[in-house]
Amino acid sequence: MEKLYEKYDKALPRYTSYPALPHWNKALNPFIWLENVNEHLSGAPELDIYIHIPYCKKLCWYCGCNREIAKSESKADPYITALRAEWSFLLRNLGSASKLKIKSIHLGGGTPTFLNRSQLESMLEVFRPYISNDFIGAVEIDPRTLTDEQLDVFKEYKFSRASLGIQDFDPEVQKQINRIQSYELVVETVSKLRANGFKSINFDLIYGLPAQSPETVKATIQKSLTLKPDLISFYSYAHLPERIKNQRLINADLLASSSEKRALYEGGRQELLGDDFVEIGLDHFAKKGSYLETALRENKLQRSFMGYTDQKSKVLIGLGATSISNTPSAYKQNEKNVKEYINQITLTGEASITTSHLLTPIDQEQNLKIQKLMCTQRIPLTENLNPRTALKLNQFVIDGLLEMKDDCYSVTEIGNIFLRNICAIFDEYLEGQTEQKRFSQSV
Ligand SMILES: C[S@@+](CC[C@H](N)C(=O)[O-])C[C@H]1O[C@@H](n2cnc3c(N)ncnc32)[C@H](O)[C@@H]1O
Ligand code: SF4
Repeated sequence: MEKLYEKYDKALPRYTSYPALPHWNKALNPFIWLENVNEHLSGAPELDIYIHIPYCKKLCWYCGCNREIAKSESKADPYITALRAEWSFLLRNLGSASKLKIKSIHLGGGTPTFLNRSQLESMLEVFRPYISNDFIGAVEIDPRTLTDEQLDVFKEYKFSRASLGIQDFDPEVQKQINRIQSYELVVETVSKLRANGFKSINFDLIYGLPAQSPETVKATIQKSLTLKPDLISFYSYAHLPERIKNQRLINADLLASSSEKRALYEGGRQELLGDDFVEIGLDHFAKKGSYLETALRENKLQRSFMGYTDQKSKVLIGLGATSISNTPSAYKQNEKNVKEYINQITLTGEASITTSHLLTPIDQEQNLKIQKLMCTQRIPLTENLNPRTALKLNQFVIDGLLEMKDDCYSVTEIGNIFLRNICAIFDEYLEGQTEQKRFSQSV
């Protein structure tokens, strides 16, 4: 196993998009983007919405997300105004605006539960006329900031999927990451969410945090399992203190070595698999019977910029700073700086594009292959494979990462750990690239 890690632990994209963001060609301007969205909405005017809330009350030292720390909720007022303006600008420019159906809204962050009741209401009311009957509302929740008033709003809008930032239950680990959050608080949060109509609950856990040991990770997972979450995201801690300043507050002496970190993952994974969870692609575990496990079993699993899902529209509109939007042939990311984002919207009504990509027909073909592999863990033998790709696949078979099954190459349990490496054989942008440090390690 060590040999496999040595061979395959490389800096590779996570393939949330193909091509990966550092390879985007920046070919879009606002006009081409709107034209592209209109084209893709012309058949079925259905879309998904992602809204980024870039505020948190307290800093978690490990955090790699785009957010700022603010004491007072009022800090978010101009941002909510900007979000509403961004949406109305879009509505004014969509040919099919009157027939629009919003299939889902995902509130992410930062911390959506930073917002108070009136801010949440003011943000969500603009979407009300367009919400479809089979709407899915999903929200990322920090148990430390969830209030009954927020729950009332989520209930009113029929939000049904919650993702809770847990990370670790061990008191010493919590101290080392500056995130004190008791088990009792999480018990109460889960029970309130269920009482308010949330049907699916995900826990975010991280391995590789300071002061973790195989025992503490095991204990955190066991405590998590007593609360019967439907999904568990088990993330590898990405420690990049050169780029992410707040991570310099982490005591690096307490971090696991690469081999210790792999043992933390392996231990946690075994604990989850032993409790009726199945592993879904990268980082995700789904309880048997949950919507993701059902989607996997029924071959309906999909992937979006927000992660794995069972339902996805052709068009995703990302509102807010850093948010990503996409259609089958274009990606674009909004201005990242929150102040700049608000200024831009105030001036023009439109968020400026930081980076973008217009997919070529070949990009679209390779993207489909990669996303299919990420979701089904299979490559059909009928796939159009060039000789070089076929050679690499054979090497994966020899190394035990893939096996030939029926009419496809199937990813093995070990192969799942190296899923990014397998996807990379379809990545035409990695060819001849010498500098791969813009990506995190593949395992
Ligand atoms: C936007 S946060 C979730 C919502 C909320 N802000 C919270 O923390 O409760 C998304 C998740 O990203 C993960 N995350 C943040 N920084 C990370 C890092 N450096 N490495 C790995 N995962 C990280 C955490 O598990 C976190 O729950
Ligand atoms: S982990 Fe969540 S709560 Fe903590 S700083 Fe990051 S976004 Fe905010």
